[in-house]
Order: sequence, then structure tokens, then C-alpha cells
Amino acid sequence: FRMAPLVNIWKLVGQINSMKIEIIKGELKGHIEFEGKLESALDSGVTILNHSMTLVQRLENLFMSGNNSDVTLRVQTINTDEVKVLQAHSLVLSLQSDVFEELLLSRNSSTLVLREAPDCAAVFDKFLRYFYCGDIGVRLEQAIPLHKLASKYHVGTLQQGMTQYMTQHLSSDSPSGHVVSWYNYALQIGDSALRDSCLQYLSWNLSSVLQSAEWGSISDDLLLSLLQRSDLILQSELELFEALEAWINQNQPLGAVVESALRAIRYGMIPPQHLFRLQKQSPLLVKYYEAIRDLLYLAFQFHSASPIQLAKYFDVNCSIFTPRNYLSSSWGSSWIINNPTRDDRSFSFQTQLGPSGHDSNKRVTWNALFSPRWLPLSARSTYTELGAMQPTRTDGGRPRIIVTPATSSPDFAGVGFQKTVIVMARQQGKVVVRHVYNFHQSTEEAGDFLVDADLQRRVSEYLIDSSLYLHVVIKPVYHSLLLSRK
Ligand SMILES: *[C@@H]1O[C@H](CO)[C@@H](O)[C@H](O)[C@H]1NC(C)=O
Ligand SMILES: *[C@@H]1O[C@H](CO)[C@@H](O)[C@H](O)[C@H]1NC(C)=O
Ligand SMILES: *[C@@H]1O[C@H](CO)[C@@H](O)[C@H](O)[C@H]1NC(C)=O
Ligand SMILES: *[C@@H]1O[C@H](CO)[C@@H](O)[C@H](O)[C@H]1NC(C)=O
Ligand SMILES: *[C@@H]1O[C@H](CO)[C@@H](O)[C@H](O)[C@H]1NC(C)=O
Repeated sequence: FRMAPLVNIWKLVGQINSMKIEIIKGELKGHIEFEGKLESALDSGVTILNHSMTLVQRLENLFMSGNNSDVTLRVQTINTDEVKVLQAHSLVLSLQSDVFEELLLSRNSSTLVLREAPDCAAVFDKFLRYFYCGDIGVRLEQAIPLHKLASKYHVGTLQQGMTQYMTQHLSSDSPSGHVVSWYNYALQIGDSALRDSCLQYLSWNLSSVLQSAEWGSISDDLLLSLLQRSDLILQSELELFEALEAWINQNQPLGAVVESALRAIRYGMIPPQHLFRLQKQSPLLVKYYEAIRDLLYLAFQFHSASPIQLAKYFDVNCSIFTPRNYLSSSWGSSWIINNPTRDDRSFSFQTQLGPSGHDSNKRVTWNALFSPRWLPLSARSTYTELGAMQPTRTDGGRPRIIVTPATSSPDFAGVGFQKTVIVMARQQGKVVVRHVYNFHQSTEEAGDFLVDADLQRRVSEYLIDSSLYLHVVIKPVYHSLLLSRK
């Protein structure tokens, strides 16, 4: 439709800092025709005519046609004679990249020669299109070359976008895996946030990683840094040992690397019947027996008596007696809570008293309580002061989990049971580990338990088919024994 020839436009400029509003009155003469979508603004009297999509479309056409180009880019692939010739516009290049601005100022001719590695040259058109359109379609294998180009030419928004893309696509399916190469890249460019995200992803999804083709490709350094971690989430220590064996067979690293890796296995966490078998039948352990003889010996001692007896004579505060996050049923249970905001839920499960062979037949029953809206003590006291009934659950409350043993037993003496709750969430359609909370009795100790989960929202990424997916792990630790010895 056609607007009146004379239109008054009121522009509102809200000055948020000073909370003052300045009103500018202007006049626009002429005809305005509406083609695109019309959106009325929140401010009264102002209507925004939004044709930004048309503008982007025109810019894309400009990129595709190369019309009125004032600079030719010759993209040479390093160490080959491949050349890609692209028509560009110096205004657009300078707008997005100060590196291009410099190059354009110092050029002698209408051609700029750029030398790029093969992976970067392959995505250069895509990269250049981003300068015109501000959007880009990315595949997993294009993330590194696009990040490299964005860094080289100082295209900050794209560089940040690529880092974010990588952080969010760690769990995506790829035939040969991509997280290890992203980790190596992050290490190389010194991006510690991306490096840590990759490392955490690998640690929290280790069982999948161990079975993937990617596992064989990890570097010595990455292997050793993973093996040091106590927060690895995997089935069992035996699974880790077997994967290490496969990695060593495939990579044939230096003897020193093999020894360090073998010494990082927590032998105390492997039941003695498996240790006997490995000691005699694993070609790797047979070959490196001398390098880990002391650890195996310590592990067998640990299995032969109760940890409290062992602690009278030996230091039990060392990593071979420290559990990781084992998913096997001896150490915990998954817990799926349907409609978690509805009411309190409780759940019981059993674990083995401890990893020592001495304790392998002893079971502990645990009661877990989930409360969706539990009010922290601090908030509760103000209610009591106001004379109200002391509420245990209110709308202002926060979710929490309490895990306590169903019965007490003299066997618990000196054992500290650390509880770990693993929380899954949906990311890019995949179920991934989103948080790991450690505590002794209540998640209250962690302070931030499910603080951003927003379970009230049906679309919360923490709800998978309206359920909260948890896994509770019980980890017997003997540090307190060490203190009582001293
Ligand atoms: C104009 O439209 C585009 C796409 O439809 C939208 O992303 C943008 O926010 C709109 N701009 C304004 C000022 O409304
Ligand atoms: C490019 O220029 C040619 C010739 O001037 C013209 O026919 C064509 O429509 C232009 N293309 C675009 C996308 O503007
Ligand atoms: C421009 O020309 C000068 C002299 O011919 C040459 O030394 C310089 O390297 C050229 N610069 C570029 C960017 O090609
Ligand atoms: C583990 O990685 C696989 C892909 O390799 C993915 O499908 C799965 O969702 C991940 N699981 C977790 C718990 O992160
Ligand atoms: C146990 O060892 C760890 C790391 O070596 C140390 O941080 C911790 O304080 C030790 N605990 C006790 C009780 O000695």
C-alpha cells in the first residue's frame, strides 16, 4: 500500500545512562512503498521499515557477480601452483578487516596476492562471502581453516563465532572425530578456553572417545594429561587400561612415555582377579613389569586387607587409591527423574563399600532425595523471623539432592564417601554431560547445583523427554585415614 506523501517521523533516542529521553522531530518528503515486512516499534509513533534482508541479498549478488570490483584477489595455495581468482570490493574488505585495509593501502596494482595453506584456500570463497553477507555455513572440518583465516585477517566477529561454534559442536558426530584436532589447534594458538572445553569434553565422554577412531590419534601429551585427571567419566579403570594398551600398540611411543602412562593407571581400582590376569597375560605389562612393579605390589597389598589396616603403615593418599567417576553399577546408579518440578523424589541404590578386594562383598545402601524447590537455610531464617511457618519448599527454592547411607556400619570408619552427581543435558540433539557436582552429603555444598537449569521451562535443555537425567557415583576416599594415622 502507499503512504501519504508527507510523513512525519518521530525518532526516540532513549539515553539509558542518564534516563533522559530526547525527542527529535524530522520530516521526510516523498513516497514510501512497502515491500518488505513492516514491524511497528515499541516506541509509539515510530514504524521501522526493515529491508535489511534485501540489502544483504544485494550485497550477496554483488559478491557473486563481482560487478564494479576494484580489487582482484589471487589466492595461491602454498606449495602448489593452484590459484583461485576472486573479484572483491575494497570498501567491503576494509570494513571487516584492518589487515585487508593495510594490504589495500600498500598495494601496487589492482591485484592482491594472498598465500594460504590448502585447507584455508579451500574455504576462501566462503570466507569472502561472509564479508558481504555476515552469515556463513560451517561444517565440522571447516572450523579450523575458517578460524585460521578469521584470525589472520582480524575478522573478530567470525573468529569469536568459530570459537563458539567449536565449543558447541564438541559432541557432533564425525566419522573420524574432530575434538582431538580442535584441542591440538587450541593448544597451538594458545586459546586456553577452547583447549579446556575440549579437554573437559574428552574427560566427560571418555568411554565413547576410547571406542572411537579418534582415540588412536591423540598425542602423548594429551594422553598423559587425561590420565592424570580424577574427573574422567568412564565405565571402569580396567576399561582405561585396555584402551591405553590399544593406544600404545598403535602409536609405539618412546619407552618413557609408556612408563609414565602405565604409572598413571590407578591399579588399586582394578579388582585383584583382573590384576593377576593382566600381570601374566598382558604383553604390555609383561614387558614393562619392572617399571610398575611397586604400584602393582601396593595395589595387591591394598586388596588384601581393609584400607584402615593398610593406612596404619602406608600412605593411602595417593592417586592409585583415588577413584575416578566410574559408571559401572558397583559405584553408583543412573537416576532419571520424570517431571522433576512436581514434587520430592527418593531413590535407593547399592554400591560396594570400597574398591579394595577385602571389601568387595560388602554393600552399602544409599538413599537419595531430590527436592526441586528446597529453600536454603539463609533464606529460611528470614521467614521464621517474619513469623511464618518454616517452609521447606517454596517457589523461591532451589533444586537439591541429598545422599545418605541407609544404615551405619563400623565398616565405614575412616572412609569418606564423596558423592558425585553427573547431570546430562541435550546439546545439538545429543545427550551430553553438562555438569559434574561433587559433595559429601548435600548438593548444597556445591553452591551452584542446577542453578541455570530452569527446570520450570518445558524447553529447558536439562529436560530430556520431560525428565532430568542424572547419574550418582559414590567414591570411597581414604584421606581421613591418613590424618588419623598422624
Ligand atoms: C530487520 O529484519 C531482520 C531480519 O528479518 C532482523 O534480523 C532485524 O533485527 C530487523 N531489524 C530491525 C531494526 O527491526
Ligand atoms: C552486473 O552487471 C551486469 C552488466 O552491467 C548486469 O547485467 C547484471 O545485472 C549485474 N549484476 C548484478 C548482480 O548487479
Ligand atoms: C610494490 O612495488 C614495489 C616496487 O616495485 C615493491 O618493492 C613492493 O614489494 C611492491 N609491494 C607490493 C605489496 O607488492
Ligand atoms: C559422547 O560423544 C558422542 C559422539 O562421539 C555423542 O553422541 C554423545 O552424546 C556424547 N555423550 C556425552 C555424555 O557427552
Ligand atoms: C592428599 O594429597 C593431595 C594431593 O597430593 C593433597 O592436596 C591433600 O591435601 C592430601 N590430603 C591429606 C589428608 O593429606
